[in-house]
Amino acid sequence: MSNLDRYAVIGQPIAHSKSPFIHAAFARAGGQKLSYEALEVAPEALAETLKALHAEPYLGLNVTLPHKAAVAALCETVSERAERAGAVNTLTRTGTGWRGDNTDGAGFIADLARLGISLAGKRVLLLGAGGAARGLIAPILAGLPESLAVSNRNPWKPEELAERFKTLGPIVPRTHLSLKGDLFDVVINATSAGHTGAMPRLPGQLLAPGAACYDLSYGAAHAPFHTWAQSQGATVIADGLGMLVAQAAEAFALWRGLSADPVPVLQSLRTPELPGSGDTHRLPPKPVHPDRKGQD
Ligand code: ATR
Repeated sequence: MSNLDRYAVIGQPIAHSKSPFIHAAFARAGGQKLSYEALEVAPEALAETLKALHAEPYLGLNVTLPHKAAVAALCETVSERAERAGAVNTLTRTGTGWRGDNTDGAGFIADLARLGISLAGKRVLLLGAGGAARGLIAPILAGLPESLAVSNRNPWKPEELAERFKTLGPIVPRTHLSLKGDLFDVVINATSAGHTGAMPRLPGQLLAPGAACYDLSYGAAHAPFHTWAQSQGATVIADGLGMLVAQAAEAFALWRGLSADPVPVLQSLRTPELPGSGDTHRLPPKPVHPDRKGQD
């Protein structure tokens, strides 16, 4: 192990993480010899663990819950996209510390492309205004939608996001109930409601003909949004497993300078529980843990 290039994902809990499987598959496909571990790290141990892993030396780390916001302050430098997202999910070793980056937005956009969902000229609705939603705003605006509405249960959060991102493009801050009468071409669920089996309370008839519905959650947490999207007649419904694999592919490319194909890995992640592949218009397999939000 010691003479292999070393990588890991850090989080708490971490035992369920799919990242070791995903990165091992990318490495195999690319003929890369490396090790990738899942390391349980408590918040109070984060700073000292980062120093210890740098000393080992690990070449790169993925960062998942609950460290994605806190780790930024422990980086030597942070990329612009991570700064904007307010979260770091990928660390790359430098000679003296860690460079923080965030591949979630790029993974999200790559997964939309895989699904054939374009944002250009579309009326986009982003549900939720927490950390996950914030990380999507810059990449969504870069896709040149006709409009971007951000809708949230708590009304002041979309207002704050509109202010924070105003130099990148206009955001229409909304509450869920105030959406009544509007139509959207793409609806993205970035709330954590599905995690408790819930769905934001939305007025009926929000989807324009041919609308696509994309959920950042996957596994059991995707079920409420899937059911809602189906009941509204969405043409495309997708969960966030593709984004999880695509953000990992972006991290792998940063570390190894090699592109990784998410598609076969995504297929093999779905295959054990549900034969076949593809991820639209189907209820997800029941996971053994509550997965969510394009992260593991
Ligand atoms: P994350 O980092 O995963 O985005 P977060 O920052 O706590 O987590 O944000 C959670 C988001 O899900 C918020 O937009 C939250 O809405 P509020 O700001 O109104 O709390 C939303 N959310 C969570 N549970 C929800 C529910 N049952 N119905 C609607 N929105 C919900």
